[in-house]
Amino acid sequence: MRINYPRLLADLRHLATFGQVDSGVHRLSFTSVDQEARHWLLRRMTEAGLDARIDGIGNVYGRTRGVTKAVLIGSHTDSVPKGGWLDGALGVLYGLEIARACLEAGSQTDLGVDVISFADEEGTYRALAGSLSFCGQLSEAEIDAAKNQQGKNLREALSEAGYAGRPRLILDPSRHVAYLEGHIEQGPRLEIEGKRIGIVTGIVGIRRCHVTCTGQADHAGTTPMHLRKDAGSALIKCCYDLIQRFEKVRGPHSVWNFGHVVFEPGAGNVVPSSARVLIEFRDVSEGTLDRMQAEIQAAAALANGQGGVGVQATELIRISPAEMDSHLATMIEAAARGRGASTLRMPSGAGHDGMVLTRHAPTAMLFIPSIGGRSHDITEDTDEADICLGIDVLADTVQMLTERK
Ligand code: HGY
Ligand code: MN
Ligand code: MN
Repeated sequence: MRINYPRLLADLRHLATFGQVDSGVHRLSFTSVDQEARHWLLRRMTEAGLDARIDGIGNVYGRTRGVTKAVLIGSHTDSVPKGGWLDGALGVLYGLEIARACLEAGSQTDLGVDVISFADEEGTYRALAGSLSFCGQLSEAEIDAAKNQQGKNLREALSEAGYAGRPRLILDPSRHVAYLEGHIEQGPRLEIEGKRIGIVTGIVGIRRCHVTCTGQADHAGTTPMHLRKDAGSALIKCCYDLIQRFEKVRGPHSVWNFGHVVFEPGAGNVVPSSARVLIEFRDVSEGTLDRMQAEIQAAAALANGQGGVGVQATELIRISPAEMDSHLATMIEAAARGRGASTLRMPSGAGHDGMVLTRHAPTAMLFIPSIGGRSHDITEDTDEADICLGIDVLADTVQMLTERK
């Protein structure tokens, strides 16, 4: 197969025009720009000769015709708010270019390449919704329950997008011999260590919780301090306590952040009646995650009732740490070596669709460097030479799988 680098780069640049914000993209799941991007991808898959469709959760899936077995390659094309142009898009367009190059080569093998863009990886409504659905792990009730920050329902978004009622496509274990995902690293390790290809060993587990404080709205000028039920101050104290608790139980690679906070009614002259923070924390060890979770419950229990404010912690998301297939990882490493590329075995601190797929099919991921380690921001970027090296390594891995057959 011959990879057409200018075509790959042109496709990446074109995809980045959907929801473009300066050098990045704002392409939240199921917004009009996200759908336009999905329909563009569908056309590109069809033009490549794939049998392509969009399913009932918004996954864009292109199958190679006339084969009984296929390597599935993909990632996602939705973005975080004001995100980067490569996060997700890279892995999908790697898949498209490899499938296209294989079809152009007209190889006689029975192992084809299928390509997929999973819906809502970034969790505007439900993190990893597309890959969970594809692996049969997203129930209709979970779709009904998923909402975005504005309270809009995933079901409604699917219906507006025109995907409601379509069948949801499912992984076929007899067909899909492996899932491969290329992705930017989204952190600084490859750059700092001077390596060009990251071989992903595993992916961190991710949990999210809300801590919600419920007090009473009052006039912020006339209500004496000792009579207030100030939900805002209660939340801030609870979060401060939590940071100290996390420091005590954390592992060497644990991370956490307070990513979103809402004070109601949200005015300078009103004592907050309610306050809620979204906490996310990650680690490769389930035990460490359990200890951090227990600290959230303990901090909430301690704060509950103080100053007349009720405090409650609710778990929202629990995604277990995931291991990659070691045999496939070794193949990617060999492919990188064959290209003279330096490699680094590393865990992923970012979540990926591969963490869902790995429980259902042999799965591996490769990383290419992110300039300055920047990601989830419009400044995210990667050298074109690294983009091209990454697809070479992935294509060589597909070639090895073909030869193994
Ligand atoms: O949140 C994550 O780790 C991923 O980028 N969606
Ligand atoms: Mn991301
Ligand atoms: Mn991503």
